[in-house]
Amino acid sequence: MEQAAPAEPINRIRYDMNAASRTINFTLNGEAVTAEVAPHHSLVEILQHQFDLTGARESCGQGLCGCCTVLVDGRAVSGCLFLAAFADGAEVVTVEHLGSRERLTDVQEAFIETGGFQCGFCTPGFVLMTHQLLEEHPDPDEDTIRHYLSGNLCRCAAYPEIVAAVKLAARKRKQA
Ligand code: FES
Ligand code: FES
Repeated sequence: MEQAAPAEPINRIRYDMNAASRTINFTLNGEAVTAEVAPHHSLVEILQHQFDLTGARESCGQGLCGCCTVLVDGRAVSGCLFLAAFADGAEVVTVEHLGSRERLTDVQEAFIETGGFQCGFCTPGFVLMTHQLLEEHPDPDEDTIRHYLSGNLCRCAAYPEIVAAVKLAARKRKQA
């Protein structure tokens, strides 16, 4: 009997874990970039150490807290668990790509205006996820907000203000 062809691998490349390092090319915040990555490097390590992007930061290192959130091909991923080698050919977006010091986004303004943070360690992850949330649900109710952001933890427990920030950002976006 003829054997079925093996399913396509989920990841775009087969990576040799014995290799010392390899060069990957990807788009980072709209620019074509190159990085040298070892098999064990996570995406958040590469962003911090090779590109000085510190918005996504490692905290739990286990995919539980959302502090390391980045977008890969439009999907939010935990940068601490995502192997950098698998970013080859991908489009990666970090919180640094949203707004600028001079021109904040509606979401960033809303977090400031509602006091949606205390120490701020979790804030980049929440801000990035809120942008994604409002793309998919422009007028989210509270259950939707809490469910969507349930992968992001705030050790300062600023959750009421964070939810208020999301609601305010949604109102700002509607009025824009
Ligand atoms: S550091 Fe990646 S999810 Fe916590
Ligand atoms: S504001 Fe401190 S961890 Fe969220």
